[in-house]
Amino acid sequence: PSANLTIDPAFTIAPVNRRTFGTFVEHMGRCVYTGIYEPGHATADEDGFRKDVLELTRELGVSLVRYPGGNFVSGYRWEDGVGPRTDRPRRLDLAWHSIETNEFGLDEFSRWCAKAGLEPMMAINLGTRGVQEALDLLEYTNHPGGTALSDLREQHGAAPYGIKLWCLGNELDGPWQVGHKTPTEYGRLAAETARAMRMVEPDLQLVACGSSSSAMPLFGTWERDVLRETYDFVDYISCHAYYSNDDGDTASFLASAVNMDRFIDAVIATADHVGAELKNSKKVGISFDEWNVWYKDRSRLTDGPHDQWEVAPRRIEDEYNVTDAVVLGNLLISLLRHSDRVAVACLAQLANVIAPIMTEPGGPAWRQPTFHPFAITSRLATGQVLRVETESPLTTTEKYGDVPAVDAVATYDEGRLALFAVNRSTEGPVEITVDISRAGVTRIDEALIMHDEDGLATNSAEHPDRVTPRPAEARLQDGKLTVTLPAISWTAVSLS
Ligand code: AHR
Repeated sequence: PSANLTIDPAFTIAPVNRRTFGTFVEHMGRCVYTGIYEPGHATADEDGFRKDVLELTRELGVSLVRYPGGNFVSGYRWEDGVGPRTDRPRRLDLAWHSIETNEFGLDEFSRWCAKAGLEPMMAINLGTRGVQEALDLLEYTNHPGGTALSDLREQHGAAPYGIKLWCLGNELDGPWQVGHKTPTEYGRLAAETARAMRMVEPDLQLVACGSSSSAMPLFGTWERDVLRETYDFVDYISCHAYYSNDDGDTASFLASAVNMDRFIDAVIATADHVGAELKNSKKVGISFDEWNVWYKDRSRLTDGPHDQWEVAPRRIEDEYNVTDAVVLGNLLISLLRHSDRVAVACLAQLANVIAPIMTEPGGPAWRQPTFHPFAITSRLATGQVLRVETESPLTTTEKYGDVPAVDAVATYDEGRLALFAVNRSTEGPVEITVDISRAGVTRIDEALIMHDEDGLATNSAEHPDRVTPRPAEARLQDGKLTVTLPAISWTAVSLS
């Protein structure tokens, strides 16, 4: 089979938004403890940060990091994690049935962000807390000085953090959330918190919680009701999505980006509907602040006897394979394609917990197969996102019907073109011919593919580079780029 694609620099969607390449560090399992932070590790720096993980984080090409949760934030007291370590309390973390030592908190996180070169995205607790605690946190992080909490931060040796991007709670539509709420309860609280935060700093960028997934019973209604309360006060509504292959339906799993496309389109339509009702021309964007493949280790959310509370237990340490990496690459294609409305996206999470970076306590750190499509896309995508006109054979899936086997997006930046394409078919290769004659590029600089004859191939501490990107076979002649995409593969080509 073959597919015809057309790229034209005039088919612009929006500029590539660096915030599409965000990530997420939650106090969950070993993401913080023995993930990014492990004093005593051979690579630990003076702050106890693992330098091997810092290096991999830079290589991953992430731009921002959401913190400290996740479900964790809905029971979190941020002030537990600041000041002298010896005074910090140990607490029960109900979200993950663990003990939180608070050895790592806001100030350590901010130092880690600075070292990794990342913009912080701070989530506030609207599960068990409210307006006052949000204001306190804002005063601590951002106020220059001369007030109780800004002076306290200064005593802790820190200048104002200037955090601009804030999540107003996390997944409060979910019955698993501590402090779970109805849409109206949450909408009112989020609106009043946002209104008060803006009295301190009008130019904050605020995210209201959308649904925890598009399969939630209230999906659509939740967004509508929350935005009816918050429309004037927020910039973004969140989306969360995790895709799984646990029922062995690999064809549908490979088409997960179809679900993401529909999810984003539905949330945009809902937000615009509320804008129309309110006669408000402002557009609310999307913060897709949790997305990933996640399915192998769902059982280990809170396993162990109920009376057993551990510090940093192993939780959902999914081991990803090359098929998962292809799906992840396609999800990024979907996010890029929606750059006109998706303002922020966070791959959940960064280390150990459904993560591109794995570590062993006291041991090595390595890249999961999913690391690579993310790192390559982040490195090559610059300038404007371009829609790619695609005529592709179809592939049949149980969940989404017949969908195009080939899905692609491109970016264009002053004579530099990058194409990202997947073959989602399990059946066989598709040869793509891409008309790039209007892009004015004449040579292939790089062509990389994620594919393996064994779709279950994975990496491990012992074999960290079993799955890596390999050179793709791409040819360019007379303005036509030809690439063969094997079944279940993700490819990136950059040209100039
Ligand atoms: O990322 C893991 C968890 O998934 C987050 O804590 C929560 O927000 C979501 O349900």
